[in-house]
Amino acid sequence: MYQGPSRWSGSHSSTFHVCTTDLSPHAVRQMSCPPSDEFCRRPCPSATVTGLDNEIDSGISPRGSERFVLVTQAHLFKPTYPQSKEKLIGPSALFFHQNDYHAQIRRLVQSSLSLDVNRNLVPDIEAIAISLLDSWSGKVVNTFYELKKFTFDVAVLFIFGRLNNHHHKELLKENYYTLDKGYNSFPTNLPGSSYNKSVSARRRLSLIVSEIIKEREEKSLVQRDLLGSLLNFKDEKGQTLTHNQIVDNIIGVMFAAQDTTARLLTWMIKYLHDDSNTREAIQIEQKAIFESNDGGNRTLSWAQTRNMPLTSRAIKESLRMASIISFTFREAVEDVEYKGYLIPKGWKVLPLFRNIHHNPDFFVDPHKFNPSRFELGINPNTFMPFGNGLHTCPGNEVAKLQMLIFIHHLVIKFRWEVEGSGGVHYDPFPIPQRGLPAKFWKETCSCTQGRTSKLVSREESKLK
Ligand code: HEM
Repeated sequence: MYQGPSRWSGSHSSTFHVCTTDLSPHAVRQMSCPPSDEFCRRPCPSATVTGLDNEIDSGISPRGSERFVLVTQAHLFKPTYPQSKEKLIGPSALFFHQNDYHAQIRRLVQSSLSLDVNRNLVPDIEAIAISLLDSWSGKVVNTFYELKKFTFDVAVLFIFGRLNNHHHKELLKENYYTLDKGYNSFPTNLPGSSYNKSVSARRRLSLIVSEIIKEREEKSLVQRDLLGSLLNFKDEKGQTLTHNQIVDNIIGVMFAAQDTTARLLTWMIKYLHDDSNTREAIQIEQKAIFESNDGGNRTLSWAQTRNMPLTSRAIKESLRMASIISFTFREAVEDVEYKGYLIPKGWKVLPLFRNIHHNPDFFVDPHKFNPSRFELGINPNTFMPFGNGLHTCPGNEVAKLQMLIFIHHLVIKFRWEVEGSGGVHYDPFPIPQRGLPAKFWKETCSCTQGRTSKLVSREESKLK
């Protein structure tokens, strides 16, 4: 009972779009956006039939369609990415797969990102954060670009452990950055083009991983990082993974980890800059921890990172507000009927997380940064910054841990001023214009102390 795309109208509350190569005018619609939503000011980049929920979802919650695609009928929708991107990451990376292969790799990835692993890496992540922040002192920096250094180093830690061979680390960095730079470029393989450079860097990355594996074998190193898990894996028939499967998944995890976390931290730095009340409250929370660590003479403990309620709520609110993974890609593997509508086999389906996160039915005043909304808990299935269903993000705890550690050191030691007039850049996911140029100053110890006691007394007077 196919009723055609012309019945589907643009709707801000829709939770998924169906994309098609049909370029007829009725199939191409612009998203309609409320003027207050700074994220929602441009048309869909591809030929898109938008807004299933107004009609299909009428009478039920708009999150129904998202669950249909990602959870309850997930087997009918396979993950799909543009071919040019799949080529750069590697076709065996887990996020392009379903069923047994996906489940196997996912178990390995999850075990190398588990809470037990995280617990042991707190001091290493802290050292990376401190070293980067120290390099910002007194400078105007491109916040997003700089944070990518932090999240790259943390990703390397989870993937390769404490990589002592600096030559390998530098080569990984240089080539991964080249790959990343061309990831969203026009996919032409003309020599000298960004895409072509990315493809070449991808080839070199595979060779570097071979060298790291060889060194481990020569030194009989057995490590509990992601590379170790992938190398040691044997299925029930004793089959190990191929070199390409290992490399594709390493680059896949690197890709999933680095950009996302840096992007979210960039937004959070902006939100905390704009909202002095939240920033000051977080400073109080973090300063208490800093002081209990003998003014920073002892490193953060795992238990401390698990007990930062205000900062955690601000992270959640940043995830909701920025919705950096605004949507994900799926493709119907057969004709699928959804409430009387046909989604033909091969059509792309994009669950839109942002629309759920910015829906006023679920979040009062949704365009306002307000971490306290998470004090009371929220409706089920209305907050999914890390996705939903079988492909939900296995790195969410790693992401949160690095953000908590970074924010701890940022707010107790620095003040910052954002430069420029704001705005959002999409590539296609949102990032503050020009990567958020900002000036960072290190506060002297006495200044921090004075400020903290002022803040504490301000908080106390609020309580009276
Ligand atoms: C703020 C940071 C992050 C956000 C918002 C985020 C978000 C997401 C989302 C929405 C998905 C699901 C995509 C889909 O269903 O198609 C996903 C998948 C994934 N994420 Fe994350 N992520 C973040 C950080 C990380 C980190 C730090 C790692 C690794 C250390 C990681 C590793 C992965 C992997 C491997 C997948 C694919 C899982 C699968 O297909 O089974 N992510 N992420």
